[in-house]
Amino acid sequence: MRAVMVANPKGGAGKTTLATNLAGYFANEGKNVTLCDLDRQQSSLRWLAFRDPELPSITGYFNGNQMLINLPQEPDWVVLDAPAGFQGYKLNDYLRAVDRVLIPIVPSIFDMAATEDFLNTLRQDLSGRMAKIGIVAMRIDPRTRAANMLEEFLRHFDIPIVAYLRNTQNYVNVAAGGQTIFDPPRARNKRDIEQWQNLHKWILKK
Ligand SMILES: Nc1ncnc2c1ncn2[C@@H]1O[C@H](COP(=O)(O)OP(=O)(O)OP(=O)(O)O)[C@@H](O)[C@H]1O
Ligand SMILES: [Mg+2]
Repeated sequence: MRAVMVANPKGGAGKTTLATNLAGYFANEGKNVTLCDLDRQQSSLRWLAFRDPELPSITGYFNGNQMLINLPQEPDWVVLDAPAGFQGYKLNDYLRAVDRVLIPIVPSIFDMAATEDFLNTLRQDLSGRMAKIGIVAMRIDPRTRAANMLEEFLRHFDIPIVAYLRNTQNYVNVAAGGQTIFDPPRARNKRDIEQWQNLHKWILKK
């Protein structure tokens, strides 16, 4: 079993969007995947309830009691969707239990400021193991000033940007039906699927 946690204490950064789509990617690759919802709002599990049983299956798992790290060991992959405000010792324990941490950031000064403390904490807690953390620039066009601002901001932290995902209703539309951009029919999401390629490679790297 390998585990990927999607986390950022800033609300609305795109954690659930990333976590559900990543789970959908693994499912469409024929992997046995569990989506572990750490959020009391249970957005991921609500989404899963809408998923057509004919689609590649994703197992849901709720761990709103985040005090106990209790990851299922049977699946090939566990994807964890952390809640807004997730930090402190609970976060620390989870950081040690997972193989990768994905941090979605929207490139606005408000979001970057709110994420800065979190990145500093990660730097202290994971010193020497920063390789396991990757940023996902959310709702962004890589050629814009916003992208430059984000790259400049991240230079202090030495954390790689593993994907730039554009702002598109495709994510909103698929989510409404319990789907992901990786579920068939894929043609209409082709541009977005391409934007995930580097992220997949980074996750799969041993
Ligand atoms: N790339 C994108 N393009 C367009 N809309 C997006 C994109 N990514 C996320 N969104 C939308 O932004 C909103 C917030 O995303 P999401 O719920 O994934 O954030 P979150 O970090 O899980 O929020 P919370 O902190 O409340 O758990 C949602 O309405 C989602 O559909
Ligand atoms: Mg969420």
